[in-house]
Formats: sequence, C-alpha cells, structure tokens
Amino acid sequence: MTPDTAISVSATRTCLCNADITALKQVLSNTPNARGLPNSAFTSDAFYDLERELLFTRTWFCIGFASDIPDPGDVAPVWFGDLSILLVRGDDEAVRVFHNICPHRGMRLVREPAKNKRVIACPYHCWTFDKTGKLLRRPHFMGPGDAEGLPHEADPPALKEIRSAIWGDAIMINIDGKAPDFAEHTRHLDAAAAPYGAVREGHNTDNIDYVIDANWKLIVENFIDSYHVKWVHKALEASTPMATYNHETIGNICVGRAPVAEARAGYGGNMPGWPGLSQEAAGTLTYLALFPNLLLVFSNDRMTCFHLMPDGPGRSRERIKFYMPHDALMPEFETERTECVESYRTLNDEDIWLVEELQQSRRSPAFDGGRFSPHWDRITHHFAKQVAEALLA
Ligand code: FES
Ligand SMILES: [Fe+2]
Repeated sequence: MTPDTAISVSATRTCLCNADITALKQVLSNTPNARGLPNSAFTSDAFYDLERELLFTRTWFCIGFASDIPDPGDVAPVWFGDLSILLVRGDDEAVRVFHNICPHRGMRLVREPAKNKRVIACPYHCWTFDKTGKLLRRPHFMGPGDAEGLPHEADPPALKEIRSAIWGDAIMINIDGKAPDFAEHTRHLDAAAAPYGAVREGHNTDNIDYVIDANWKLIVENFIDSYHVKWVHKALEASTPMATYNHETIGNICVGRAPVAEARAGYGGNMPGWPGLSQEAAGTLTYLALFPNLLLVFSNDRMTCFHLMPDGPGRSRERIKFYMPHDALMPEFETERTECVESYRTLNDEDIWLVEELQQSRRSPAFDGGRFSPHWDRITHHFAKQVAEALLA
C-alpha cells in the first residue's frame, strides 16, 4: 500500500568524502580487480548516517514480523536508528506501520509492546487515535468545556503511516515512499523460494536474539560466504560440503545453494516437508540475502529468517526466526525442532566471534577493503556493489 501520509525523512546532512567516493568506485570494478567496501563503511558515524539516509529509508527495509503482533489490538514500538516506529495490528487483522509520534506536540505514543489496545492514546495530553491512525478525540482541545474535543476540521491531524508490505511473516517498510513496487522488490526472492512450496506460510516456532559488536554488512557478508564453511563449521561441512555450493547473483538477492549430503537437524532434516515442495528442493539447502537486511535459509522442512537491525556503525541486533510446516509442530517432532534451534546456536557461535574480529580489523589502516575470490566471493562482491551503488547514487 502507499499511504498518502507517506513522508520523506531523508534530508541529507552530510556527504561522502573524496576518499570514500574513490573507494566506493573501486568496489564497482569487476570481481578480480575490485576492492571491498572501505573501512569507513564499517566504522564511521558519518558513513552510517548516510547509509540511513540514502539506503535504508529509500528501499524496502525489514522492520519486524507480523508474528510479533499476532492479534487485533497488538502494538509494538521499534527503534529504527533514532526514529521510533510503531507496528499495529488492526481490528481488520491488517498490519499497519506508523511513525510513533503524536501529531500534537510530538510525544512518543507507545513505549512498550502491548496487547488488546482498543485505541492508541498519547500519554501526554490524551489525544486518542484508532488503529488506522485516525484521530478520535482530543479532550478539552478548545478549552474546559470541550470535553471530547471531537475533530471538526476537514483534514484533522492523524498518525503518519509508513508504506509497508509483508513477505511471509516479515514486515517491510519503505520510509520515503518512493521505492519500486513491493512485488518488484520481492520478484527474485519469490522465484528462489518457489521450489520450497508453501514456505511462506510456515509457523514461527522459535526465536534467538543476539547483539553483535559488528557492522550489519559484515554479518551479511559472512552469511553469504560459503568459503569459510570447511574450516569454521564442521557440522555444516558434513551436511553440505563447501565444494558443492553454487552461487547466483540476481538483482537484489545473493543466493547460494548446496545439495544436502547428509540430513542433520539444523540443515535439512527428517520432519514433514513443505506442502508443494519440489523434488529438486527436497534435497537442496538454499540461503539468500535480500538486500539490505533480511537473510533467509530454506530447506525441505524449515525456513530460518535472520533479521538484522543496524545499531550504529559497530553494533547490530540480530534475530533468528524459525519457521516450520504445520505438520512439523506435532509433539513427536519436538526433539528434531529443538536440535534445529541448537544447531543454529552452535553455527552462530562459530560465526559471531569472526565477525567481531573483522569489525576490529576494519580499524586498521593496513586493510584496504581486501580482494574477492573470483569463485567464492562473487556473491559477497555483488552485495558490496549494491551498497556502493546506493551510496553513490
Ligand atoms: S503530545 Fe500527544 S496529546 Fe499532546
Ligand atoms: Fe559461518
């Protein structure tokens, strides 16, 4: 949807320095000659601010999940940098996203997640809004005799709705309201997910939360890097050996696929598969990065969704959400489900110290963005190019 209240919050406050422009142009070279993103892309406040202005607000950005607000009347505030965003489940079951700001004097409306909200009432002067953002009443607005303060203007103030859409369970927002249609944004993702049948209808069974001392881009780069599997992830290597991976880059996604050599709890297992699963997908692990901040893994009987929320240049919040087919929720699969979550904990523990090390290394003047392997790092390079293109636009 495109709310007519969509507003731009992107007022460029700063710009890239010449050294950054030169470095970003080098990222755009062909893979053997390119350099990775410069150190400033991972460490500098100014670069991070620009990223927010030129990238996050202009594209579709995953802000949360519909399962976070499952019932009508559920509300959840989310920090998006220094912007407060409000997720609301309406009486019509629709998810709407608003700027979490009262149009009276700018108070933050909702500070904690809550359920069964009949209305959204501002804690400051009690202006009250319905779950579509419409102003209902503003007590004593015209003075003590105006108890209800019913809006009388042709165009009364309302909550500012943000353009939003949902893929599976993921809520995506486009803050400036000008990104291409959502269907276009998810076109390649839809194609990659299609062989897994009803994967988008999976049930959210578990979540794991992390705070990671690393820039969000290092987490994406590490996620799509299959080159390290052999040395870092022994269990994953046994299930999907590094040498068997193939990679694809298309539009706003980076994809890796590997045949599952050995069923393991975390990486493709023994639970009921997705309805509509294709023969080929039944034996294939697929992982992909949807630019910018949503990472997905599909296998025959599960989907995991890694949601990254940048929190400054050197810190990220990551939530891993697990989805399974309805039939996998039966009690007899509890052990398998638990093993799946535990295997991802192990996998992530094997990775987090690496990305935190990489973050530290980005402070060294001896590092110049690094080189890309023409075979393994092609998809990492594709991701870096998307960042460079957004910043240079
Ligand atoms: S600031 Fe919200 S009612 Fe006054
Ligand atoms: Fe890894």
